[in-house]
Amino acid sequence: GAGPVVLPSLLSADFARLAEQVRAAEAAGAAGLHLDVMDGHFVPNLTFGPPIIAAVRRLTSLPLDVHLMVELPEALLPAVAEAGADVVTVHVEATPHVHRALQMIRALGCRAGVALNPGTPATAVEPLLAEVDLVLVMSVNPGFAGQAFLPLALDKLRALRAMLPAAGPRPWLEVDGGIDPKTAPLAAAAGADLLVAGSAVFNQRAPVEANLARLRQAVA
Ligand code: DX5
Ligand code: ZN
Repeated sequence: GAGPVVLPSLLSADFARLAEQVRAAEAAGAAGLHLDVMDGHFVPNLTFGPPIIAAVRRLTSLPLDVHLMVELPEALLPAVAEAGADVVTVHVEATPHVHRALQMIRALGCRAGVALNPGTPATAVEPLLAEVDLVLVMSVNPGFAGQAFLPLALDKLRALRAMLPAAGPRPWLEVDGGIDPKTAPLAAAAGADLLVAGSAVFNQRAPVEANLARLRQAVA
């Protein structure tokens, strides 16, 4: 049947040619784009914020999946929604009031996602399931592209799948970090609906279109 959807992560794109890279992903048939916002506190790296999200929004009509690796993300949520995010994901570890942050995201008109670091158990999202449209399982410690896939993410995906209703509407399961043609089928078999891929899509070894096709083929 239809495999899971691959979302290119712009973190691995060439920022000096951002427009070109966004258009290449769109032309290659990407279902959406994943945007990694890092604050230098929650994770040891800095990327970009609402102005760049807004710039990407002007370049494409693809759904924008914004992953906030930001401590106390509440203050940033209105600007992220205003910039044109479709899905906004906050980390369960990033605020003592993650339930309220998720309610805020929906009140701003976006879909709400909750992310789990590798060290956080699946059960952490159990009280949040009514508030989320997406659960993001990190398969690397967030902060950098190009890290190796952590197999513990597979057990967590399976545990989440078992926690969610088998029929009817349920949150999407997304996996992020170290996704390549070898790990993508494992994540898909463990129950992931959305596969985020940075370096496997935007590496310079092959065109974006060929890279995306390889990933898609691996999970078809
Ligand atoms: C990591 C980011 C990921 C990153 C994935 O902190 O959240 O979205 O772009 O990059 P790869 O696919 O190279 O692991
Ligand atoms: Zn991400």
